[in-house]
This record gives sequence, structure tokens and C-alpha cells, in this order.
Amino acid sequence: MRVLICHDAGAAARRTADILCDAVAARPAAVLGLATGGTMEPVYAVLRDRLADGSLDLTATTTFNLDEYVGLQGDHPQSYRATMDRLLFDAAGLPRDRTHLPDGAAPDVAAEAVRYDAAIAAAGGIDLQLLGIGGNGHIGFNEPTSSLGSRTRVKTLTAETRNANARFFGTDEAAPRFAITMGIATILESRACVLLATGPGKAAAIAAAIEGPLSAACPASALQLHPNATMVLDPAAAADLRLRDYYETVHPGGGEALL
Ligand code: F6R
Repeated sequence: MRVLICHDAGAAARRTADILCDAVAARPAAVLGLATGGTMEPVYAVLRDRLADGSLDLTATTTFNLDEYVGLQGDHPQSYRATMDRLLFDAAGLPRDRTHLPDGAAPDVAAEAVRYDAAIAAAGGIDLQLLGIGGNGHIGFNEPTSSLGSRTRVKTLTAETRNANARFFGTDEAAPRFAITMGIATILESRACVLLATGPGKAAAIAAAIEGPLSAACPASALQLHPNATMVLDPAAAADLRLRDYYETVHPGGGEALL
């Protein structure tokens, strides 16, 4: 696992955007796994800037988002479909049928989850998966105790996750209780993944994910099994790491390893 501790949250978002841009430069038809959440918004802002100045071209890529709320139509402003249109897809100019999210309004959401895993496989699998992390260690919406062998399926959100997401919904509107999420095994099949975490609210989860035991109690600890996982952190999210000095020696300023 590569642990990159950047100078601040802005540098961490740019580092994450750089990793995605490098993957697309290496393979213009890359299959990208995307994430939503507040942490990712600055990453998409960097990508929009690069699309605008012509240094990034996403038109040949295919994308699969991690998750979608159950019960929200794609045109609901807080659906992850609408969020991704706003944050990236409208600017990226790739055909809509190559931007995939689970359909949270499908009549049979269990079948939709199975279909989604099959669609990822049919696209050849994910080249690079972006991830955030919940304060409870979730990745996607794989809440603590999710099977480390799980596939895409419906998960009940914890009260903590619903409270964290309530900020995106109106005061008269309840945050959704269920989501379709890629499973942990689905995420582990990506050929590379990069997790971005910023702020003190993520420090405990990051320490558990990187240095804690491999455990369903912290779903992000499953990334310890991934052969090509990168954790991009700001100093606040890295604050509880016992081996922080070591990571900073290997990757000064969150840059490439000195060999
Ligand atoms: C969203 C997702 C979640 C978020 C996580 C962090 O697609 O997969 O795992 O990445 O809940 O959310 P923020 O960044 O809002 O703290």
C-alpha cells in the first residue's frame, strides 16, 4: 500500500486528480471507478479545469460509480447520477451510456445490483477506482461488518452515515436509508485504487484501515489485500498513523518514492 501524505487538503485533491489523469494518459479508453461525497468535490473541480484547458480528455473513457441511493430517481438533485452530471459528466463530454451508476429507482434493486457487477465485468473490469472513506471506515457504502467477499448489493446505511449525508438534503427531506453499493470484493478486483481522505474526522478510520487488523469492522482495511492501492491523505487525516514518519520518508511530500 502506498501512503501519500500531502501538504494540505488541496494538494491531496490535486495528487488524486493527477493519478486519474496519468491513468487516462496511459490508457485513453480507461474504465474508471468513481466516488461521490464532499471529499471528492475538489478532485472533480481540478478535473473540470483540466477538461477546460484541454489537458484532459475523458471522451474515450467508461465510468462506473461506486453507489447510488435506493429510491431516488436519477433526476433527483441529490441522486449520485445528478451529482456526477453536475460535477464531472456534463463537462467531460462522454456519451451518457458510458457513465454507469446503479439504478436506485429500479423496480428490483437486488437484480439491479447483480446486473451492475455483470456490466463492470463486461466492460473488462475497472482500471482505476477512486474511493473516499466514511468516518466509520466504510468504502462505497460497505458499512462496518460488510463481508470482505461482498459483491454489489443493497446495504442499509448506518445512522452515522445518514447523519453525515443529511447535510446534502433539505430539512424537510429524510436522507435515504438504503443504497446499492459495489461490494468489497468488487472494489478489490479493480486493477488499481486510490483512496482520498482529508480532515480530522477521517483520522481514526484511516489509522484502522492502514495499520489496524484486516477486519470487516473497518471495511477499508480490506484494501490491505489490494496489490495496487494508494492512500492520499492530508496531515489531519494522517494524524493517528503510528508509522507516519516512515510514510513521509518513502514518499516525501506525498510524491513518488525515492529509490
Ligand atoms: C460515496 C462513497 C462514500 C464516501 C464517504 C465519504 O460514493 O462511496 O464511501 O466516499 O462516505 O464521504 P465524504 O467525502 O462526504 O466524507
